[in-house]
Amino acid sequence: MWPWLIVGTVLVVALVATYDLLQHKHAILRNFPVIGHFRYVLEKVGPELRQYIVTDNDEERPFSRDRRRWVYASSKKENDYFGFGTDNDLDRPAAGYVIIKHSAFPHRPVAADADASHPIPAAKVIGAWRGRRHAFRPASVVNISGMSYGSLSGAAVEALNRGALLAGCWQATGEGGLSRFHQHGGDLVFQIGTGYFGVRDAAGDFELSRLVDLCAANPVRAIELKLSQGAKPGLGGLLPGPKVTKAIAEVRGIEVGKDCISPAFHGTFSDIDGMLEFIERAADATGIPVGIKSAVGDTRFWTDLATRMAVTGTGPDFVVVDGGEGGTGAGPLAFTDHVALPFRQGFPRVYRAFAEADLHHKVAFGGSAKLGFPEVALLALGMGCDWVSVAREALLAIGCVQAQRCHTDHCPTGIATQRPWLERGLDPDLKSVRCANYLITLRKELLRLAHACGESHPALVGLDRIELLGSDGESRPSAEVFGYQPGWGLPSRAEAKLVEQLVATRR
Ligand SMILES: Cc1cc2nc3c(=O)[nH]c(=O)nc-3n(C[C@H](O)[C@H](O)[C@H](O)COP(=O)(O)O)c2cc1C
Ligand code: SF4
Repeated sequence: MWPWLIVGTVLVVALVATYDLLQHKHAILRNFPVIGHFRYVLEKVGPELRQYIVTDNDEERPFSRDRRRWVYASSKKENDYFGFGTDNDLDRPAAGYVIIKHSAFPHRPVAADADASHPIPAAKVIGAWRGRRHAFRPASVVNISGMSYGSLSGAAVEALNRGALLAGCWQATGEGGLSRFHQHGGDLVFQIGTGYFGVRDAAGDFELSRLVDLCAANPVRAIELKLSQGAKPGLGGLLPGPKVTKAIAEVRGIEVGKDCISPAFHGTFSDIDGMLEFIERAADATGIPVGIKSAVGDTRFWTDLATRMAVTGTGPDFVVVDGGEGGTGAGPLAFTDHVALPFRQGFPRVYRAFAEADLHHKVAFGGSAKLGFPEVALLALGMGCDWVSVAREALLAIGCVQAQRCHTDHCPTGIATQRPWLERGLDPDLKSVRCANYLITLRKELLRLAHACGESHPALVGLDRIELLGSDGESRPSAEVFGYQPGWGLPSRAEAKLVEQLVATRR
């Protein structure tokens, strides 16, 4: 009897292992056959278990279980509804809890709203105010934020790029250069970091002609000059030698196997005038709009920048503000936890500086840091963002399980690793569709919230429609919390009219 039981068990395990290795749906099972099933069992019985032990649905960071469940379900086109009503304690909510004040007369959807890809073009044309040759209106108010090839595997970058193509949005490259994994048809925003990867000469200095060639050869819609990112501002980066594979070295223009250092500062400029000159040079040479991405620390920088822009009539076509709660592949704890203002504190300071210089209708604004959920994305648009960029949420959509091992090269899902055996688990065919499903669902939900507020487009929902609860349960108008003047955050009258037409005619 016993020998047969053992043979039977071995056979079952071998069959399960074979199935796991051959299937493409679950990266965890491909990389960890048999034992990977425990994760799915725990996920399945988790809600029942949690009634008796461990944490509730809104604990766990950076993304709560509810948040992750919503992204997973949306990306798989599964039922993403929640039953029995909110499980949040609205008498003692987390400070800043968003309340959207719906209209008594919701918007009546027009034919365009039935489009299954739920397109939402942005209200502004990036680069219009400076008359850039390739000024453009972003096709989507949700885009993919920069995550370098190097911090992410090639398969993950490819899945995101193809996801961007399917969803009709752009993918920012991150500072690690433009790789073949970025060349699957999705629109790109090319990021220039302090290492000038992909656009540097042999000495590591920025080379304009390389930027021109790279933009001409790829669907680069905009150039993003990275000053800093929320998770580690004012700090350089290091890709350790063992991670500098031949492929990465080629893309970045560096030596194989040697530590790859991104300095904390730009070598080509060190003040606002130098930066403005750099931006104008890049935009003139390529015809492509150029913007900056930055976390918010010293507020003086932003008022000085807006003042110089108003005086000179030059400057970035767009500004992306990354909150201090933003993500990274790897960063020191003191920086991830304590340097740079959170998005809700930082963005209003930047917007105010531009609004007071009367530039807020000229310059376009993007925002990032945990904004890939409908109600916070609506809040960000109300604050004056023309789009939100999502990074980690898009990773969740392609299978990230929030193991938080991105810095170890041991990512179990093949996303944040350069190890071929782990990367093999990630199937870009399947994950690109999941990425697109998530992005489209987020747009769908944004539209539904806008309609509930009586508007046809989320950019038309002003901050007067949003209140924020304090931890004592008291509600405060969001415009008051952010110190906004009437009309701030909304598109100009002309843009508002145009955007309504765009939604109605789906052009
Ligand atoms: C793995 C990883 C790599 C990243 N690499 C870059 C990068 O190269 N350049 C950059 O500007 N931001 C980078 N970021 C930051 C994101 O673009 C984004 O600004 C930040 O994570 C906030 O968005 P999120 O909350 O949606 O993740 C990276 C983030 C992650 C998680
Ligand atoms: S290491 Fe964990 S958190 Fe990082 S990408 Fe992989 S699964 Fe996600």
